Amino acid sequence: MTSKNILVTGGAGYIGSHTVKELLRRGYEPIIIDNLSTGYRKLVVGGEFIQADLRNPDAVRQIFSGHRINAVIHFAASCYVGESVEKPMMYYENNVLCGMNLLAAMLAHDVRCIIFSSSAAVYGNPIHVPIREEHPQNPINPYGQTKSLFEDILRSHERLYGMQFVSLRYFNAAGCDPEAEIGETHEPETHLIPLALDVAVGRTPNLRVFGTDYDTPDGTCIRDFIHVCDLADAHIRTLEYLMDGGASAVFNVGTGTGHSVREIIRAAERVTGRSIPAVNAPRRPGDPPSLVASAEKLKGAIGWTAQHSALDEILSTAWNWHKKLRGCAD
Ligand SMILES: NC(=O)c1ccc[n+]([C@@H]2O[C@H](COP(=O)([O-])OP(=O)(O)OC[C@H]3O[C@@H](n4cnc5c(N)ncnc54)[C@H](O)[C@@H]3O)[C@@H](O)[C@H]2O)c1
Repeated sequence: MTSKNILVTGGAGYIGSHTVKELLRRGYEPIIIDNLSTGYRKLVVGGEFIQADLRNPDAVRQIFSGHRINAVIHFAASCYVGESVEKPMMYYENNVLCGMNLLAAMLAHDVRCIIFSSSAAVYGNPIHVPIREEHPQNPINPYGQTKSLFEDILRSHERLYGMQFVSLRYFNAAGCDPEAEIGETHEPETHLIPLALDVAVGRTPNLRVFGTDYDTPDGTCIRDFIHVCDLADAHIRTLEYLMDGGASAVFNVGTGTGHSVREIIRAAERVTGRSIPAVNAPRRPGDPPSLVASAEKLKGAIGWTAQHSALDEILSTAWNWHKKLRGCAD
């Protein structure tokens, strides 16, 4: 393999660390850049780790000068919707300006392949479900706006400079490494499954269910949960597609199947064998009733489908990691 050196920004985070582990398993040599603002050094299981901040263009350029980088997977970002509403400029800086520092260094060193972590948040409140990539983009918070804006910047870099990109719009990342060596650790945690598992281990007394009167079969929100190992696979396969001359593209990464909050709670109780008391809470502003991907485009382009995203596999891998994270015995 000649194109082995992959720069992974945000590789000490949840999705980045799982992708790094999979890159290593497939014989790539990842170089990880992370400022550890929300990531953890211990999640990086191999490759070269460089603690640096993408806000610093000189540091980014130096990394490209010191390494022969063949392609980039760009995970680094600020990712809390609520925080983005409170601190929009922080989100524009970290999610847009930092990406532009990266693109400038790539162009200066003739690196022209990038896989970008986008999000279902670019669609806003969907008009049609399942959501296809052509669905109008109408993000309803600064987080989604930064992802949509950076996609535009990638398109203009393709037009102006021949940059080749794949933007992967993920739905809800979930699950953990099947070996439980690494996993999901967000502080504060806002994701449904780790919050449910915190109740299962007794760290919190109950799980708040935000909105129980939606127009869905059980009244709770429906989301498309994609196993983090399926996401890692989608990154590496689209990277190979791009490096083999595939055209720039935007793809959803989801399963095409939605699960309600109540279904997740039931699955978590089944897998853990513990009770997870839920309390009803008001709807949160900006939570659409249902967000489910059409995953057909990625399947058509590279034959990718999710292999590990059955609910019980998501829950059991998350549970094995969560017990270790919280220091719990079986
Ligand atoms: N988790 C999800 O469900 C989900 C869904 C859609 C999109 N995404 C996107 O996927 C990507 C990864 O998300 P995650 O859940 O792994 O988040 P995460 O917070 O675990 O990972 C982000 C990583 O980027 C690093 N980072 C942030 N700013 C940086 C900077 N300026 N310089 C260097 N490193 C920096 C952090 O330290 C962290 O390790 C993000 O771009 C996010 O927007 C995540």
